Amino acid sequence: MRFSLESAFCPTLAVLAALITFITIAECGRAGINLEVSSNFDPNGRPSGQVINCSVDTAAADLDKVATLEVFGPRPYGIGNGLEELARLDIWSKSPELADELEGSDVSVDGDVSSSPPYLTLTWRLPTLAARHAYKCVVNGYDRDGKAASVSTTVQVDPANGGCCHKMDAVQTTLSSLSDMVGDVFNMTEDVSSKVSSLGSRFEDVEASCSNVDGQVTTQLQSLTTQFEEIKSQINQKISSDVQTLTGNLKEIEDRLKSFEQDMRSRFVMLGIDRARFDVSGIYQGRLYLVSKTQEAFNIARANEYCKQSGGYLVELDDTPEYQFVFNLVNKIRGANSFWTGANDIDREGHFVFYNSKKPLPTLTWSGGQPDGLRDEDCMEIRLNFGGLNDWLCNQVGKYVCEVPL
Ligand SMILES: *[C@@H]1O[C@H](CO)[C@@H](O)[C@H](O)[C@H]1NC(C)=O
Ligand SMILES: *[C@@H]1O[C@H](CO)[C@@H](O)[C@H](O)[C@H]1NC(C)=O
Repeated sequence: MRFSLESAFCPTLAVLAALITFITIAECGRAGINLEVSSNFDPNGRPSGQVINCSVDTAAADLDKVATLEVFGPRPYGIGNGLEELARLDIWSKSPELADELEGSDVSVDGDVSSSPPYLTLTWRLPTLAARHAYKCVVNGYDRDGKAASVSTTVQVDPANGGCCHKMDAVQTTLSSLSDMVGDVFNMTEDVSSKVSSLGSRFEDVEASCSNVDGQVTTQLQSLTTQFEEIKSQINQKISSDVQTLTGNLKEIEDRLKSFEQDMRSRFVMLGIDRARFDVSGIYQGRLYLVSKTQEAFNIARANEYCKQSGGYLVELDDTPEYQFVFNLVNKIRGANSFWTGANDIDREGHFVFYNSKKPLPTLTWSGGQPDGLRDEDCMEIRLNFGGLNDWLCNQVGKYVCEVPL
């Protein structure tokens, strides 16, 4: 059980407690800067997010005063290895600021430039794609002579040596020996033994997509492995000859596996989004919303196809809160007046359905006097200068919105 960090600067440090609530993936010091990348787990072992914490030991960094702290890293749903500014803090504005693109996403920021030590912390509520990347912290300030000074440190979190497939082998081996033991030691109920074997096949499914995943997954696997090991040793020691206890343990593993699978699915969906074509929202009700970056003459079939290529479909506004979320999103992104949805009454005037599911449009409040059903106004858009929903000619210029279930 070890994590490997590849960095010119960093000592390898890996902490893994048997009952994991918090795993430190990387902790590095350079010129008085501490940059920590850690993963949080809730008491049930479910991943509950990631923390990047940069703090400055001003004495060690030879800084008399810290003026700015900046954290760089991969954007949460980004692809590629470029480092972009995620958050910054300075003595003038005092409160920490997130990069625009991160506003409204699942990350919060905290920090204090005048505390001792000054620090800047980003906390993701959900696991991010970020573990494979580098993070950088840059601190600008003044030395004792009042001269401007800057120090920085970079941490590269590289899961290669403890990679997913490798870990998966360990889980599989443990699982199959567990399965054998279950057969030997207990006269198991059908229920328990079928659970063990179904867990086995689900791990195989996960393994099949293993090569794409990152270090965060590795830590989750570590904790699953740990739990398997615990059960194994319980069985070994015959502490629990009680089938019910074992069933309970397996149930817990099953739940964790479920959230693990969900998390993996979400990661793959996020990786599949065409970021060159779309701006991407934060997560709302288990979904992401994509807004085309450029406006063009709407073609409902083609737009839906592009949505599909990114794992979704033209947006389906199922209720008023969802409409509000999407309205606020496009109103923030702007760059067009018309934002096309999937709703249309092309087939039957006045009878709006969604392009993808063919489900009828629910009752929503349209902007004043709409839909006016004027000739050929068959597609539903969000029209910013109307402040709401409108029916409009389906071939007009605008951006379009997709919905991607995670
Ligand atoms: C970040 O680092 C600072 C300074 O070491 C510490 O006070 C703070 O508790 C840390 N925050 C988190 C979330 O780890
Ligand atoms: C296992 O349990 C079944 C019924 O639950 C019983 O018929 C069988 O004899 C048991 N086998 C052993 C080896 O105890």
